[in-house]
Amino acid sequence: MKNRVDVLHGVNLDQIGRRDPELYGGISFKELEVRVKKFAGELDIDVTFWQTNHEGEYCESLHIAAERADGLILNPGAWTHYSWAIHDALELAGIPAVEVHLSAVDEREEWRRFSVIRDLCVGSVQGKGLDGYREAFELLKAAL
Ligand code: DQA
Repeated sequence: MKNRVDVLHGVNLDQIGRRDPELYGGISFKELEVRVKKFAGELDIDVTFWQTNHEGEYCESLHIAAERADGLILNPGAWTHYSWAIHDALELAGIPAVEVHLSAVDEREEWRRFSVIRDLCVGSVQGKGLDGYREAFELLKAAL
């Protein structure tokens, strides 16, 4: 059974509890982790939850992702909108991925409307807060 999923968070996501609650739901990153792990458990997914503020580390995690996971849920934060390094590293990962954003990036500033990873992902979820992670797991499960 292919059920190992890495949930990889990027820059500033560890600070969501301090960021605009209208956009990010006013939850702490710890609360996000607990809820995401609960969703995973309900869907029989073996999840690894991870975050970094260092772009190179994020890329290195993608380099070895296929050794430990069957699929990926990615919220790279602001890197989503400009990091071609993360695009290339995801291409190397070679396993199905779903992009998720807590906020509705396509309805915010112009610069947030572009995603370097969207074309490589089997699905994309945005603007649904925490529940978006459940939807992302469901989309990923269908692709595994
Ligand atoms: C985000 C959206 C990004 O534009 C932003 O830079 C973030 C969080 C989200 O989850 O809504 O840091 O990825």
